Amino acid sequence: APRKFFVGGNWKMNGDKKSLGELINTMNSGKINADTEVVCGAPSIYLDFARQKLDTKIAVSAQNCYKVAKGAFTGEISPAMIKDCGVTWVILGHSERRHVFGESDELIGQKVAHALSEGIAVIACIGEKLDQREAGITEKVVFEQTKVIADNVKDWSKVVLAYEPVWAIGTGKTATPEQAQEVHKKLREWLKTNVSEDVAQSVRIIYGGSVTGGTCKELSAQPDIDGFLVGGASLKAEFIEIINAKH
Ligand code: G3H
Repeated sequence: APRKFFVGGNWKMNGDKKSLGELINTMNSGKINADTEVVCGAPSIYLDFARQKLDTKIAVSAQNCYKVAKGAFTGEISPAMIKDCGVTWVILGHSERRHVFGESDELIGQKVAHALSEGIAVIACIGEKLDQREAGITEKVVFEQTKVIADNVKDWSKVVLAYEPVWAIGTGKTATPEQAQEVHKKLREWLKTNVSEDVAQSVRIIYGGSVTGGTCKELSAQPDIDGFLVGGASLKAEFIEIINAKH
């Protein structure tokens, strides 16, 4: 079966009830192709708000969560709480969690395992920094990050892999379709060798990093690009164009 196109919006730490409410109204009334799976990543304090207001054809995602169900972890949220708000996805291992907040591969792996065990689907993010690309170690970096994720996944039907080169995030420097396709293809080969042929063929590998209405069509035409994780442009009506990139 062909992989269903997947477009996630990551609102990051932006918006308020007024502006997100308006964005949600735009999303709810927008013409969204039924062949695309759409997920919006809300700040944790607005997860409940987003889930209550967004049309049910659009899923909601948390942007992070902790690795255990409950306890003395001030400031954290658990997958159980995410689920309690009717939210079905979580973004884990985002570049900002790794590089601004110092999350290790090990912690990200533990979070992936726990979220999946609680029935929350995971958008697992990987990607090299500019100096790593320039040093020619992009593959090594993303394979190592993917291995830690893979070691913590039993059911790959609940996982989307997001390749987000750090140098492309929030910079306006979108990876070229060729650059993105090259890494996506290698990731699929890695999955074939290290997980299974079936998983390699079925897992959605999405691209993130300065995706816009202008860059989405060419990227979406690449054979191993199965969608996007969108930051800045997911806060604008342009997000609908990106959702419909294939049409
Ligand atoms: O999660 C989304 C990525 O960090 C991309 O963000 O589209 O603002 O570059 P951006």
